[in-house]
Order: sequence, then C-alpha cells, then structure tokens
Amino acid sequence: MLLVMKELKAVIHFVCSVEFWRMALLWPVSLLTSHFQLLFQNLFPRKSNPYKRCVPPITGIKRPVCIVTGATSGLGAAAAYALSREGFHVVLVGRSSHLLSETMADITSRNKDACLEAFQVDLSSFQSVLKFKDSLQQWLLDSDMHLSIQLLINNAGILATSSRLTPEGYDQAADPGVVKTNIMREVPSFLSLMAFTVLKLLGLLQSPEKGINSVLDAALAPPETSGVYFFGGKGRTVNSSALSFNSKLAGELWTTSCNLFINSQLACRDLSN
Ligand SMILES: NC(=O)c1ccc[n+]([C@@H]2O[C@H](COP(=O)([O-])OP(=O)(O)OC[C@H]3O[C@@H](n4cnc5c(N)ncnc54)[C@H](OP(=O)(O)O)[C@@H]3O)[C@@H](O)[C@H]2O)c1
Repeated sequence: MLLVMKELKAVIHFVCSVEFWRMALLWPVSLLTSHFQLLFQNLFPRKSNPYKRCVPPITGIKRPVCIVTGATSGLGAAAAYALSREGFHVVLVGRSSHLLSETMADITSRNKDACLEAFQVDLSSFQSVLKFKDSLQQWLLDSDMHLSIQLLINNAGILATSSRLTPEGYDQAADPGVVKTNIMREVPSFLSLMAFTVLKLLGLLQSPEKGINSVLDAALAPPETSGVYFFGGKGRTVNSSALSFNSKLAGELWTTSCNLFINSQLACRDLSN
C-alpha cells in the first residue's frame, strides 16, 4: 500500500511538471511528422536514392577506431555490437565497470572477431571526460592503433525527469525517442509502461537493434554527406525543422560549446595544481 502511494505521488508530481508536458506534446508531434514524411515517401517515391553506408577500409591489421558513449545499454550497446560487426575497433564508454564487462562479454559471445576496449567515464563530469581524453590518447599511442578516431557515436543520455547540473554547473540535455530501452528509467514505472504499451499498439515501438539503424546510417554515411536528417533506417532521410538549418544559431552553439570546454579544461587544471 505504501509503495502504491509512493508511486502515485511520483506519477502526480511528474505529470504536473513542465518536463512532462514538453515531452508529452512536442515529442509525439515531431515523431508523427517524421513518420508521415516516411509514409509520403513510400506513396510517392522520390528520384533520389537512400544513402548507402560507407565503412572505412581495414588497412593491414589496423582497424578503424570508433567510440560509442553510453555503450552499456539500449541503443549504445546495439551500436557497439553492430559497429564491431562492421570491422571497427570499438571503444565502449560507460560509467559502470560491471556493465561494461557484461556488455563486452555479450558482444564477444555474438561476434568472436570483435575488437573492443572499455573506458569507465561519467560524461556528466568534465573532470572524468578530461581523464578519459588522456587515457584514450595513451591507449592509442601504446596499442599501435590508428592515432585518430574515425567515428564518435555521442549516444549517452537519459530521459531525466528533472533539470540538473553537472558538478561543474552546466545543464544536461536528453533526446527522447521511441525505442524500447532503459531511457525511461526515471519516469514512474506506471507511466513508462503505459507509454511503451501505447507506442507498441501504434506500431511505433522498435527494438534497439532496429532503432539503431538510422544512427548507423548517419554515422556511416558517405563523408561528403552533411546536414541531412536520417530517420527510419535503410538510408532514408526526412526534413528536419527550419531551426536546424539556422547557421547563425549553429555557430553560436559551437562557439559556446568551445568556450565551455576551454573554461572547464582550465578549471580542472587549476584544481589539479
Ligand atoms: N530510446 C529511445 O527511444 C531514443 C530515441 C531517440 C534518441 N534516444 C537517445 O538515445 C540515447 C541512448 O538512449 P537509450 O534509449 O539507449 O537509453 P538507455 O538504455 O537508458 O541507455 C543510456 C546509456 O547512456 C549511459 N549514460 C547516461 N548518462 C551517462 C553519463 N553521465 N556518463 C556515461 N554514461 C551515461 C547509460 O549508462 P548507465 O546505464 O550506467 O546509466 C546507458 O548506457 C540517449 O541520448 C537518448 O536521448 C533514445
């Protein structure tokens, strides 16, 4: 009884929050818009072909290196496995060493040729990210690998039910979606179960293995591809919002991100001196 009351209280609290309504209204609208575009493309096929995937060649024993963040669950784990199958040396980034070992064992059991390396990183802490950068550079130097990273799947993230800051005071963001993963771990279980059930009934809920296809399409698109929005797998794309083409805003985002990075780097150096 106490548990039910607690769950009910959490549901009411979440349903009354701005985050809930932002997700409940904006997310289905953008999702349905993309699905309608796919439907339209099926009914009236375009002349342009879907994008073909393009995997960097393996030169000698050196495999192309890719990094997958949030590789211990859902889409990240599916991406790590799929990219190991494509011949990449996959660097798995996760915050739990136990989950990293479990994911590596799972991938190796399904792909005996997989080349994997794991790093324990908490991406919400800049200090942890900087430590990762140093360890990664050292590992690349020590292990006769390609000295560059060919691919970064910047995947880590959760659907947070409240806004919170990193230890350095920065905001964190999440990108909600429609793949059955642990994404709703913070949402009261009653609501997440209901959301997944409705999505399944509507035929919109995908497995991580299927859902990862548009991410892989984007990651492995021909190098000259830029500014397209992959959706629905099989190399298909849909139109993204006008805001995503705002180059002034994109420039500001880039400059702000670079400044945050430089300031945090300086702050971390000061702390360690
Ligand atoms: N599921 C969807 O329908 C969907 C659709 C579109 C986009 N997305 C986006 O896809 C990404 C992956 O989500 P998912 O659905 O696969 O969810 P998930 O199953 O919950 O996986 C999230 C992964 O990110 C890791 N992670 C979270 N915070 C981290 C941090 N601070 N440092 C390091 N790792 C961290 C988690 O590690 P722990 O397990 O250790 O917490 C976990 O491995 C998210 O960015 C999400 O917004 C999801």
